[in-house]
Amino acid sequence: LIIGSGGREHALAWKIKQSPHLDKLFVAPGNGGTHSIATNLEINANDVEAVKSAVEENDIQMVVVGPEDPLVNGMVDYLKKELKDVMIIGPGSEGAKLEGSKEFAKEFMEKYGIPTGRAKVFDKTNIEEGYAFLSSQNPPYVLKADGLAAGKGVLITEDIDEAKQNLDDLIIGEKFGTSSARVLVEEFLSGIELSVFVLTDGKDYVILPEAKDYKRIGEADTGPNTGGMGAVSPVIFADKTFMEKVEERIIKPTIKGISDEGMDYHGFVFFGLISVKGDPYVIEYNVRMGDPETEVVIPRIKSDLVELLEATAHANLGNVTLEVEPFTATTVMTVSEGYPGAYPKGKEIEIDQPLNGAIVFQA
Ligand code: AMP
Ligand code: GLY
Repeated sequence: LIIGSGGREHALAWKIKQSPHLDKLFVAPGNGGTHSIATNLEINANDVEAVKSAVEENDIQMVVVGPEDPLVNGMVDYLKKELKDVMIIGPGSEGAKLEGSKEFAKEFMEKYGIPTGRAKVFDKTNIEEGYAFLSSQNPPYVLKADGLAAGKGVLITEDIDEAKQNLDDLIIGEKFGTSSARVLVEEFLSGIELSVFVLTDGKDYVILPEAKDYKRIGEADTGPNTGGMGAVSPVIFADKTFMEKVEERIIKPTIKGISDEGMDYHGFVFFGLISVKGDPYVIEYNVRMGDPETEVVIPRIKSDLVELLEATAHANLGNVTLEVEPFTATTVMTVSEGYPGAYPKGKEIEIDQPLNGAIVFQA
């Protein structure tokens, strides 16, 4: 059973569907794309009790939790407590804090010596210090809501007055409710970004193909940010030297931290990285796969995904080697005009010619 309804979940379903170990595939709630290859269950992705019942009713043996909300809200802890013999892919709520709280993630990185931008945290009690701190810094000013904000919680501006106004909007104006009650003011890092993914069982890991997503809505990387308008894998500047730095400086200490902290973590770690003159820094952790990155990462995995996920659940990743396809994969989103603002829904997309070598994923 895959939890979620995005392009990410369709891509995971597409790959799992190819496994000889699969008997029956469910997605909850799924989408039009997963409907054609799996059984969609009409269950809200955050409804833990309904998920538990569906697992029991359908004799489901493995649950893969796709999106961050149910992970941060503790779905994995609940399912593990209630369903003893079911393999659950995703971190428990303690590990999910790496995405659910940017302050928690910063403290974790500091403790384990993982390169990231320096940051200070402000809330209602010391917002005046926040204004003063901003005045003491050089532009651009980077402000981050501590909690989940559906990818919209980072505000960057060159203008000091706007930066102070942003701090005010987040904390006093409760722009993202309790998610922005605490705000990080972070050092601006200048460089080029990429996404690196691992599967971990809490002590060992395998590195999946890396990807780069392009977030702006317009042609030639212009206009407002979105969740991602497209992605490509592999990433041209992520050569052997760079990826060795990523593994030594970022992946290894992160997995050591997860293990030392005793986090129950059997799932994906998504490292949002920035290369500053060839040195990698962590911009953010996510505790799930990326979307649209999954749509290019998954087609490049040659190994059987069910076997990989079984090894993840059973803490057996130390014995696994990943086989990767040498080709390049790229994805482009087709969205209704108006996105990422308000947009009309219910439109039809017609594809009237065969798409040789292309896969259509729906979100
Ligand atoms: P996030 O929501 O954490 O992925 O951040 C959204 C975007 O803000 C990132 O993809 C970066 O482009 C940018 N960003 C976040 N933190 C920084 C930083 N410290 N320096 C420069 N850009 C940043
Ligand atoms: N594409 C970025 C994300 O999934 O967070």
